[in-house]
Formats: sequence, C-alpha cells, structure tokens
Amino acid sequence: MSSEFLMVAEASCCDVFAPGVLAGRVALITGAGSGIGLAIARRFAQFGARVVLVGRRPDPLADARRLIEAAGGEALNAPADVRDFPALQAAVEAGVARWGQIDVLINNAGGNFIKPTAELSPNGWRTVIDIDLNGTFHGCKAAYPHLKASRFGGRIISIITDKARTGWPGCAHASAAKAGIVSLTRSLAQEWGPDGIRANTVAPGPIAGTEGADRLYEQSGRVAKELATIPLGRFGAADDIAAACIYLASDAGIFINGAGLVVDGGRAWHAPSSSEADA
Ligand code: COA
Repeated sequence: MSSEFLMVAEASCCDVFAPGVLAGRVALITGAGSGIGLAIARRFAQFGARVVLVGRRPDPLADARRLIEAAGGEALNAPADVRDFPALQAAVEAGVARWGQIDVLINNAGGNFIKPTAELSPNGWRTVIDIDLNGTFHGCKAAYPHLKASRFGGRIISIITDKARTGWPGCAHASAAKAGIVSLTRSLAQEWGPDGIRANTVAPGPIAGTEGADRLYEQSGRVAKELATIPLGRFGAADDIAAACIYLASDAGIFINGAGLVVDGGRAWHAPSSSEADA
C-alpha cells in the first residue's frame, strides 16, 4: 500500500502482552499463509502457542512456518481448503498427532470479490458462502472434540466483518456468509459453552497491507473514501486483529462467550456529519 495514511507505527500493539500469555496452547489458524491469518499465527507463536497453519496454497504456508521457526516459535503447516471437510479434519488431526491437543481455532480463511448482486452468478454466491460460512462450520466441527478436551477451555474465534450487521452492497455474498457466522457463533456459545468452549467473533475494518484491502479499496480507487469513514483516521494493522485474538484466546478471555469484538477504529458507527450530509 502506498498511501501514507495507511502506514502504521512499527511498535506493535501486541507488545503489551506478557511473553508466555499463550504458553501451552495449540492454535489452528485457517488462512494462515498471508495477511491477518499470518499476523495472528506469528503473534500467537511469539506469545508461546504452537501453531497449526492451514491454507489452500502450500508455498505461503511453508514460508510462514519458516518465518515463525526463525523467530523461535513452533509451527506445523497443514495445507487444506476449508471447503473440503475431510481435508480440514486431516489438518486438525495432524496438529493433534504432533502436539496432542487443539485449544484454539481461528476461522480466518475467507473469499470475497466485488460484484453487484444482479451480476453475481449462483456459482460465485455459492463459492463465497462455501469458503466463509461452510468453511467455518467445518473448522468448528473438526476441532470440537479437541476444544472440548482443552485444559484451558477451548476457544473459537471467527474473523468476520461488521458489514454482516449493515449489509454490504457489492459484496452481498460475503456479508450474508459473515452474518451466518455470527449466528453460528451464538448457537455454539450456547451449545458448547457447557463443554468449556468459548465462541466469539472479531470484526476487522480494512487492514493495511492485506490482499483484501488492496483489491477491495486500493485497486478500485476507494482508499480516500474509506479512510473518511474511520474516526481514528487510518486503516487497521494486522497486529490490531492479532491483539484482539490473543486477548480472547488467553485467560483474560475466560468469561467472554458469544461476543462480537469490532476492531475497526470506529468505522462501524460512521454516519455522515451534518456538513457531509448537506454536501
Ligand atoms: N470476480 C468475479 N467473480 C469471481 C471472482 C472475482 N474476483 N472470483 C471468483 N468469482 C466467481 C467466478 O466467476 C465463478 O463463478 P462462475 O462459474 O459463474 O463464473 C465462481 O466465483 C467461482 O470461481 P472460481 O475461480 O472457480 O473460485 P475459486 O475457488 O478458485 O476462488 C475466490 C474463489 C473467492 C477465493 C477468488 O475470488 C479469489 O481467489 N479471491 C482472492 C482471495 C480472497 O478472496 N481473499 C479474501 C480477501 S477479503
């Protein structure tokens, strides 16, 4: 990203956490090869978790593993498409075979593209629902027995968008899928809470440096327009999302269940000021 408005401070908001805050935990992260998923994986490893890296493309996962190991962390790459339940289940079991447990599931993998609904094909709709909503269900289903057995209290953290609440013209497939994840999360919070599992969502706004922000905002010339909707005046950093996930996965999140944490600099409540509205 080129705009100076997208630059974020070098110091990470994650630096506030104690070094071993996630020690002893195993976390499986989907979409871990790049962007938000990679940041979550790196920070989880930094703070003591062993991480199972899941994604469609083996090469970025192998690179991610090298990065994490070079920084002294422990990682396992387990390529799988979240749409393929047996493949995702095999990735979960690979993590369990390696470390004996899965304590945290981060459903981060997502697919999205801009397409007005009138022009969206049934296959395009199905594809995004399949990656985002079905993929999240697949992760929850595959990880459930292990999350239930977690001595820390299992955690499910699903990455969504606040557009699930407002609707998203041009990306109705993605907002519908994410709204489905919100409802799934609330059901699981109740069904699996008695098993000690906490299920929550994190909703980022646009995150600088990610493929999604590049395609949805940069390439379509919408950066300035988008920035104007963010009261804190910048795009998010991937570490802003990693910090929210560390909080929810740690002992600090022990009583948080069925919640939605919006991490978007206040964009969710943007309303045109009277001068903007008059313009
Ligand atoms: N624009 C318009 N339509 C698209 C599209 C795009 N960028 N990507 C996929 N589609 C449509 C295809 O046209 C196809 O529908 P059709 O058969 O009626 O033509 C359908 O979706 C499936 O496409 P396909 O390419 O077979 O799916 P895929 O599984 O290879 O990839 C995505 C689907 C969503 C992952 C793909 O758009 C992609 O790679 N996106 C970039 C990664 C991403 O979405 N990251 C999330 C950032 S927010």
